[in-house]
Amino acid sequence: MLDLRLPTIETERFILRPIRVEDAKDMFEYAGDAQNIQFVWFPRHTDVASSVKAIEDHFLTRVERGIPEAYCVVIKPALKMIGTVDVHTVRFTDVGEIGYILNKRYWNQGIASEAVQILISVMFHHCGFQRIEIQHNAENIASLRIIEKAGFIREGTYRKRKYEPELGHRSDYHFYGINLDDQIVTERYSKEHYEKTIRPQIRP
Ligand SMILES: CC(C)(COP(=O)(O)OP(=O)(O)OC[C@H]1O[C@@H](n2cnc3c(N)ncnc32)[C@H](O)[C@@H]1OP(=O)(O)O)[C@@H](O)C(=O)NCCC(=O)NCCS
Repeated sequence: MLDLRLPTIETERFILRPIRVEDAKDMFEYAGDAQNIQFVWFPRHTDVASSVKAIEDHFLTRVERGIPEAYCVVIKPALKMIGTVDVHTVRFTDVGEIGYILNKRYWNQGIASEAVQILISVMFHHCGFQRIEIQHNAENIASLRIIEKAGFIREGTYRKRKYEPELGHRSDYHFYGINLDDQIVTERYSKEHYEKTIRPQIRP
């Protein structure tokens, strides 16, 4: 049985906490930006109301749909919500697929990498997943780097999987996984690591 409620975690640079309706204005800043959503699968938000609707319909229904709450990244010291990192799909009871997006004003500072690596530990050791999956458009190099840095193992490629309107062609998608008994978990995402480094960052 998965634990779908997530602990709030505070690091030096940011807070990871479940997303709320009040985050809609900050969400619209990136979800309403064409460049920011180039590689994601939801349509561009047209106004703050469409971000409210996305949060209510897509994010806040997660637990009732058997999916963990979605983390958002709240940057310090501004306490602005700058993106989400979450398991958006659960398969076969204990397999979770991760996705992420960050406001482009905060790209290339290692924020998504740090958040994704915390998310992996939480998904294994708080929620109870046995396997974490991820996929990305082969041309999305930033996402590729996050996945490589997190230690995911590439398991294959969906060839010409999806037509990308912005690119004007069909793109390949690479897919990856980490299983709880993989060597990378022993090295980077062990239960001991979670207890020593993640649990002390949990806030009430
Ligand atoms: C993907 C995304 C979350 C990355 O966030 P981020 O906080 O900038 O990521 P990080 O800083 O942790 O890592 C990005 C890495 O990609 C590299 N990178 C970024 N753009 C690159 C490019 N065009 N070419 C080569 N490398 C690139 C950075 O140098 C960095 O690698 P490094 O640490 O080895 O230097 C962000 O770009 C985003 O929100 N993109 C739009 C949504 C999206 O694509 N989501 C993923 C769908 S699968």
